[in-house]
Amino acid sequence: MSATVVEIVKSKNLKQKPNDDKLGFGKYFTDHMFVMDYTSEKGWIQPKITPYEPISLDPAAVIFHYGQTVFEGMKAYRTSDNKILLFRPDENFKRLNMSSERLAMPPVNEEEVLEYLKQLINVEKDWVPTAEGTSLYIRPFIIATEAFLGLAASKQYKLVMILSPVGSYYTGGIKPVSIKVEEHYTRAVRGGTGMAKTAGNYCATFNAQTKATSEGFTQVLWLDAIEKKYVEEVGTSNAFFKVNGEVITPELSGSILPGITRKSVIEMLKDWGVPVTERKVSIEEIFQYHKEGTLEEVFSTGTAAVISSIGELEWNGQKITVNNNKIGDLSQKLYDTLTGIQTGKIADPYNWTTEVK
Ligand code: COI
Repeated sequence: MSATVVEIVKSKNLKQKPNDDKLGFGKYFTDHMFVMDYTSEKGWIQPKITPYEPISLDPAAVIFHYGQTVFEGMKAYRTSDNKILLFRPDENFKRLNMSSERLAMPPVNEEEVLEYLKQLINVEKDWVPTAEGTSLYIRPFIIATEAFLGLAASKQYKLVMILSPVGSYYTGGIKPVSIKVEEHYTRAVRGGTGMAKTAGNYCATFNAQTKATSEGFTQVLWLDAIEKKYVEEVGTSNAFFKVNGEVITPELSGSILPGITRKSVIEMLKDWGVPVTERKVSIEEIFQYHKEGTLEEVFSTGTAAVISSIGELEWNGQKITVNNNKIGDLSQKLYDTLTGIQTGKIADPYNWTTEVK
């Protein structure tokens, strides 16, 4: 596959790179970005790498009024022998197209966009951090750019890919976090856009997230919109429960994001012979397992957060502590194996990584 970027415009003002221990998440951006435009007459045109800069749009652009947009989150890792690896990037571009279809947006050529991304990372390779627990977070997104206030899908779009060197998503790293089960608001409903990676699903969580943060919680756990009974997902990730040796995760109901880390964790567990079930699981059931002493571990999975251990859950005025607020053995093994494969520290038996050359 040799999709070549038509134009590379190099930045004349290279930024000073932050120290790896100061990265945090999503605060710093590299010197260049990728941009490609779409018109309904010509399709996707003019792929180019440009200096990282503001995007100028007509104030009537559809994105500003009706939120027609999709995005992805993926990471590039530096190995100890200085290679750069991407983790299952084909899955991200497949999901980008799935999200676009839901939002009535045009698909991209997945293989070509992956080639463009590799070219961008090559230009920015010095930005891939080296310290343990760091990576280069990749945010591809598509916005509707047509200037038109009528309620209809845009006829013009822009695909942009930006890069951000990151450390851990949560300030405490892999340390167990405290989660509040949201009882009032809902995030998404079956038949809506919950399974698509689109802005509206995320800003619908800000209100509850802000309140939960002010009460000392790290994240919110969402329940289904209809019965407010079944576990859906955590704001940034998919939820898993280890009960009496078996791992349970909510099935993909149509309102949950089909996480790539979620899929990888399920595949690893099956490979290890750990029983894993995708099914409806109610929050009441989880609290009952805790009462009976069979709730062994709770964790969530996502690209940004990787594997995040959950130490406390609050629902309906009751707070439970899981595994004495310590990282469970299985959560730790999943984290070590997944990050080991991602960073090339351990062999990749599943062929999940792709080298950027
Ligand atoms: C990711 O894990 O890549 C995400 O998109 C989560 C993001 C909302 C921080």
